[in-house]
Amino acid sequence: MTQSLLQKATTEHTLTQDEIISLLSCVNPWELFKAADQIRKQYVGDGVYLRGLIEFSSYCKNDCMYCGLRRSNVQAQRYRLSPQQIIEMARKAVSYGYKTVVLQSGEDLWFDADKMCHILREIKKLDIAITLSIGEKTREEYAAYHQAGADRYLLRIETTNQALYEKLDPAMFWQNRVRCLHDLKELGYEVGSGSLVGLPGQTLDDLAQDLLFFKQLPVDMAGIGPFIPHPHTPLAEEKVQGHFELSLKMMAIMRLLLPDINIPATTAMETLHPQGRLLALQCGANVVMPNVTEGDYRKKYELYPGKICTGESPSQCRGCIQSKIESIGRFVSASKGFHGDFLKGK
Ligand code: 5AD
Ligand code: FES
Repeated sequence: MTQSLLQKATTEHTLTQDEIISLLSCVNPWELFKAADQIRKQYVGDGVYLRGLIEFSSYCKNDCMYCGLRRSNVQAQRYRLSPQQIIEMARKAVSYGYKTVVLQSGEDLWFDADKMCHILREIKKLDIAITLSIGEKTREEYAAYHQAGADRYLLRIETTNQALYEKLDPAMFWQNRVRCLHDLKELGYEVGSGSLVGLPGQTLDDLAQDLLFFKQLPVDMAGIGPFIPHPHTPLAEEKVQGHFELSLKMMAIMRLLLPDINIPATTAMETLHPQGRLLALQCGANVVMPNVTEGDYRKKYELYPGKICTGESPSQCRGCIQSKIESIGRFVSASKGFHGDFLKGK
């Protein structure tokens, strides 16, 4: 059964919802992982794209039940970097060899469009690709950021189950998130989405729908992260068992369905398993986003507990991840790593 599904997925890159569910529930995923690794090699090669992640503000106006930065978490440590500090961190990222920086924050209204555009224009002078990950904005704001130099945007759908989404993200609307993703695509961004795996009440049906949603959009990139309960949120008592393996399966099936997209080995994977990112890179992933935020800020940007690398410096992470990547016979790519670059010979 699994064999014939894998045969279909590796040649046609399509699967029905039931077929995805059947792969998600397979007891021995080894063949699935092997197939995803082969397709990864064929469509995106052995190079791994590194993106330097700058976590520039831990303020958030939203109240997502799963997230440590939710506004109701009064124990969260809030900080906000100045535009100058952000630009300086981007400059340092370039000196460590990064070809892309990701600017990520909670939904912090202090950073209005004027401030963001200023930051983007300054960083753009460094001749690197810029990814934004700052949440839901108006189409006009997205247009302004793109104009100012943002090339890519990350906005996870979190879950395609609308009822679950709206239960977990009070006062947010699933349709608006979808609107954002469509706006971003139409405006010419490379669009990254993704989902959380293991949310309370989430089913395999939901996860299969997530993958079909990414295929339909289609995304240029998608990050799958295991849900890790945060002690200062309403979901503190939820479990984490099974989320790691299920996330690996999600990544592997995504690689089969969307063979040439960028798939990050997410940091949350390494919180659940000491080799989490390397295992993900061997099950379909081809991107890593090491942290380039400096000093104390890293540990204050606590989406979930047990975050890795909170005591390390940007240069330590850069060296560490390169040796890890090389230990599995892969290499750090020198390309900016746009969707499809490998097949175009870039
Ligand atoms: N566990 C894992 N990932 C989380 N995120 C937010 N909270 C958690 C959590 N408790 C993820 C969301 C968001 C991304 C920036 O962090 O998917 O999109
Ligand atoms: Fe940060 Fe390994 S990537 S210490």
